Amino acid sequence: GDLKVVVCGGGNAAHTMAGLAASRQNTDVRVFDLFSDEAERWAKALGNDDLTVSVHREGKITDIKSKPNVITNDPSKSLPGADIIIIAVPAFAHAAYLDAIKSYLKPGLIIVATPGQPGFEFEVKSKLGEGVSQCNVVCIETLPWACRIKEFGRQVEILGCKVSMTGAIKYADPPAGPDPQDTFQFLLGPEPVLNIKGHLLAVSLMSVNSYLHSAILYGRWGPEVWDGTPVAEAPLFYQGLDEHSTDILDAMTREVVSIAKMVTAKRQNVDMSTVVHIHDWYTTVYAADITDPTTLQSTLKTNKAYNGLRHPCVPAGDGKVLPDFSHRYLGEDIPYGLTVTKGIAEIVGTPVPVTDMVLKWCQEKMGKEYLVDGKLVGKDVASTRAPQKYGFYTLDDILN
Ligand code: NAI
Repeated sequence: GDLKVVVCGGGNAAHTMAGLAASRQNTDVRVFDLFSDEAERWAKALGNDDLTVSVHREGKITDIKSKPNVITNDPSKSLPGADIIIIAVPAFAHAAYLDAIKSYLKPGLIIVATPGQPGFEFEVKSKLGEGVSQCNVVCIETLPWACRIKEFGRQVEILGCKVSMTGAIKYADPPAGPDPQDTFQFLLGPEPVLNIKGHLLAVSLMSVNSYLHSAILYGRWGPEVWDGTPVAEAPLFYQGLDEHSTDILDAMTREVVSIAKMVTAKRQNVDMSTVVHIHDWYTTVYAADITDPTTLQSTLKTNKAYNGLRHPCVPAGDGKVLPDFSHRYLGEDIPYGLTVTKGIAEIVGTPVPVTDMVLKWCQEKMGKEYLVDGKLVGKDVASTRAPQKYGFYTLDDILN
């Protein structure tokens, strides 16, 4: 029979995934959208028409037209019999979908999160419990595309597609169902090429947004550099990167690599080889976009994908601006990012002094309390995906 695909969500990513999956041969695609009245609005907007995915590539636009069979907020109308469930929403919405999925687990079911974002495997373990051992769980480090809804429910644009994407799989035990990597690759199409290997924990550590954004924010607005007064314009985020910020970033990425090395030292069978220095990651993932890959600083400054991106700022009068510390660079990348890194580091027993320093600064700017005296025990750990939030305190807790 047809491959039964469920796409969870209703934003840019879910529109794109639903459209691409429905365009493949022999698929039965259902959209499961829990958010407010979004499913109803999507179904109404689409009516009997096709969903269009407009792919922009080398100056040309190709339209892919297809139609999901169901768009609903009702789990009983979307989840039964699913072969693969793809969760394509921001990390803060993962928990609600996992709660719904819990009643529909079956041997060999493939659960994919794209982007998975740090701590996804802890949320899965906590929400799905023992029953998830019979399923295949795939965590992809990022989203395959830069995509934007053009007309809600009806048309989405793929503005750019990654060449390759890394991720990890926890296989069903006992083995069951179609091959997870092949199945997801079939739905994506030829690009990006999935490079799936290693432990899920490696994806949590290797999600670079966790420390990339906070390192650059700290480097520009930290106490050594900035006096707190408004500035003339929002500085360029990547192209304006100075040596000080690069040093912070370099130190943080080294700390992440040292956490991974410590895991492997303690558990030799755990594959953490995908955790690499961010300089090596860039020269692989963004190979085509980087003009000068010589150093980490030159790599970031000459990445064409980053042209013109500025520090998030808010107006401060007289045409001047102040940094916007309510931006998702902190709001998402700390609770679903840096706190997860710190939590893993504590469990593994790796000191991460620069991460601590940056995290302490971030939490002050956010008005949150994660670290207390260098330990991840603050009251706001409860709203993160750090392992400690779920009561995971040992290496076995976070590896199994
Ligand atoms: P989006 O901003 O389009 O997602 C919004 C959707 O999330 C809503 O339509 C709704 O379905 C769901 N949602 C929002 N609030 C919710 C709530 N309270 N409860 C349940 N569901 C809720 O996000 P997008 O663009 O689809 O991206 C998904 C993830 O991928 C994000 O984490 C984003 O940062 C990341 N990403 C996006 C890229 C893009 O080009 N769109 C590129 C790279 C990463």
